[in-house]
Amino acid sequence: MSRAVKPRSVYACTECGATATKWQGQCPGCGLWNTLVESLAEAPSRSRHAGLAAPSPLTPLARIAAKEAARIATGVGELDRALGGGFVAGQVVLLGGDPGIGKSTVLLQALAAMSGARSTLYVTGEESPEQVALRAQRLGAGTAAVSLLAETQLERILATVEREKPEVAVVDSIQTLFSEALASAPGSVAQVRECAAQLTRLAKAQGTTLVLVGHVTKEGALAGPRVLEHIVDTVLYFEGDPNSSFRLIRAFKNRFGPVNEIGVFAMTERGLRGVANPSALFLSHHREAVPGSCIMVTNEGTRPLLVEIQALVDDAHGQMPRRLAVGLEQNRLAMLLAALHRHAGVACYDQDVFVNAVGGVRIAEPAADLPVLLAIVSSLRGKPLPAKLVAFGEVGLAGEVRPAPRGQERLREAAKLGFTRALIPKANAPRHPVEGLEVAAVERLADAVASLR
Ligand code: TYD
Ligand code: MG
Repeated sequence: MSRAVKPRSVYACTECGATATKWQGQCPGCGLWNTLVESLAEAPSRSRHAGLAAPSPLTPLARIAAKEAARIATGVGELDRALGGGFVAGQVVLLGGDPGIGKSTVLLQALAAMSGARSTLYVTGEESPEQVALRAQRLGAGTAAVSLLAETQLERILATVEREKPEVAVVDSIQTLFSEALASAPGSVAQVRECAAQLTRLAKAQGTTLVLVGHVTKEGALAGPRVLEHIVDTVLYFEGDPNSSFRLIRAFKNRFGPVNEIGVFAMTERGLRGVANPSALFLSHHREAVPGSCIMVTNEGTRPLLVEIQALVDDAHGQMPRRLAVGLEQNRLAMLLAALHRHAGVACYDQDVFVNAVGGVRIAEPAADLPVLLAIVSSLRGKPLPAKLVAFGEVGLAGEVRPAPRGQERLREAAKLGFTRALIPKANAPRHPVEGLEVAAVERLADAVASLR
């Protein structure tokens, strides 16, 4: 590369911030590999000079009138729930999820529902206008007044949004956009970050609610746009097992509402339909009791949810026995197995262990520990757990069973759905008996395992 050419972009390390004028594998600053990403070189401008800026006036916090932001209902009830009541003007939302999970569908449904009362814009970078129209027809929204823009060049999208000033705009997807100012390919970290930053600035400036769609990589991270999580106000993830029709929208970050609230949908012929009472969705309803299955009550936002945890324990044939968790935390599994051996005397070191949360849900809370271990013990012994049993509780490294938040609500939900036994942490034991539920409260993992005999 010739030195005479003034570089338009620099390569900055995502870890330490060091910059280089051309890409290289190793960061010159911190020595980490593959951390350099392209970004725009900023021309030094005079207004940036701190010495010339006038100081801003200060306001005491107590003097500021706090008010709740007015909500823009999306017309899709479960999406509103995940958002904490709807969009807010100027809010920037990132909707992430695997390809084909239903991101475009739910957003088109929402725009169509809103289009009667508000100006809406759908920017499609992935599908042709005809494809979008066909989908809209299938959703029964073929006649909705949604404006469509098929465009991937950032500058043109910005100009259009600035002219049209829609109240709600969807960009599907951020990975297809590119800015003329950068040399990197669409979908690269540099492009994704730059496009999102510029769109965000514009949305904030004119009060447009902006939804960015982002695809997720195999590792579960938004491809490249991990950086986006800091830029946007709200991060929603769309999840679910592609082979089942149920889908969840979960808030991971929300400057305008609660996190971990979930919206539950069923994918139908005519789009996504909200499921108002989802607590029994994630059970697989075995005809008779099978080993390796334990029902847990998890708590999602404001709703308890019953989820079946399955485990399969089988003789290992390799040097290293396999430990695989689907929908549960992988690293926690190894830790739990160690606790199970050490504190309850159940050894799995010569066994492959697989665990799975049924229905494609992802359970991040540690209250899954006890159900996971019960399912493992049940599979190892080839013996089903007692019928109509639910469990929850965190298991500590010292072998103690720790309480889970909102224990009462979990128990009540289980009783409502016809469960008759609960194996739970001592600290969650209800003060008043829950009708129809026989509760066994344990303090130690060993007691929980012993109670199964
Ligand atoms: P889509 O919204 O295109 O997913 P994403 O934008 O996240 O990639 O959803 C695609 C899937 O949804 C596809 O497999 C077909 C299915 N689908 C239905 O089952 N019913 C419908 O009414 C629609 C529009 C899509
Ligand atoms: Mg799509």
